Amino acid sequence: MDLGIAGRRAIVCAASKGLGKACALALAQEGVHVTVTARSRDVLEATAEEIRKATGVTVTTAVGDIATEEGRAAALAACPEPDILVNNAGGPPPGDFREWEREHWIRAVEANMLAPIFLIKATVDGMIARKFGRIVNVTSGAVKAPISNLGLSNGARAGLTGFVAGLSRQTVRHNVTINNLLPGPFETDRLRTTMEGAAKANNRSVDDEMAARRATNPSGRFGDPAEFGAMCAFLCSAQAGFMTGQNVLLDGGAYPGTL
Ligand SMILES: NC(=O)c1ccc[n+]([C@@H]2O[C@H](COP(=O)([O-])OP(=O)(O)OC[C@H]3O[C@@H](n4cnc5c(N)ncnc54)[C@H](OP(=O)(O)O)[C@@H]3O)[C@@H](O)[C@H]2O)c1
Repeated sequence: MDLGIAGRRAIVCAASKGLGKACALALAQEGVHVTVTARSRDVLEATAEEIRKATGVTVTTAVGDIATEEGRAAALAACPEPDILVNNAGGPPPGDFREWEREHWIRAVEANMLAPIFLIKATVDGMIARKFGRIVNVTSGAVKAPISNLGLSNGARAGLTGFVAGLSRQTVRHNVTINNLLPGPFETDRLRTTMEGAAKANNRSVDDEMAARRATNPSGRFGDPAEFGAMCAFLCSAQAGFMTGQNVLLDGGAYPGTL
């Protein structure tokens, strides 16, 4: 299926590794020119080169923390008029809410709620004027079924989800859609870090912890980031213009509800 986006331009945030990288690669495979961002230059440049070699599209890099104004300015300077915006950032740390002070909450809200909102603000009117735009926010399965020790994530991402629910109904008339992609467990560095903490708490090896977690998922496995990237590319396709304001869960069936 030709997704009808070859030659378009995308900003993919937090994309030197993991789910962001998979989204950038999947878009590049469709012929989209991508700007990828991350804080560590070396890893980001290596990822950019990998995507260039694999796809032949133009890949530009913007080094910076996407949770800051400077980081977002760098991304917008590298790609001032994106047709596609994939919002992503690292997830907040786990913990007990009794230990979190105001600055912990501010950090989570800056990264996982305000950064996407400010990037949408900077790009959406151009998309509306050009009559094409696709915005995908990487959030979490925790938006649908909260994870008790990830209160910072549950809270900040719910704020973004509520905002997007309203705005996405105002932009779709102009062929600009905004949707959220909700990852369940995908095999990335972030997942491995989480598993290391859980393994310690459960007094077993990381491999044993990971095997146990895989077994509890209805699919019997973790997600492959490429599966996440493919869904992101579809949400950014020409064909997905009638889909907006949705929360698309990719979790191997872990969420137990009928709807
Ligand atoms: N993997 C899962 O199973 C899973 C499940 C639910 C939710 N999620 C959420 O999905 C998002 C992506 O997760 P992942 O598994 O792909 O993580 P990952 O493998 O740790 O990759 C994170 C990527 O984001 C970049 N990054 C992190 N914070 C950034 C920032 N402030 N500004 C710019 N770039 C930043 C990192 O590069 P630098 O460190 O160099 O900046 C790296 O390229 C996170 O918010 C995570 O909480 C993941």
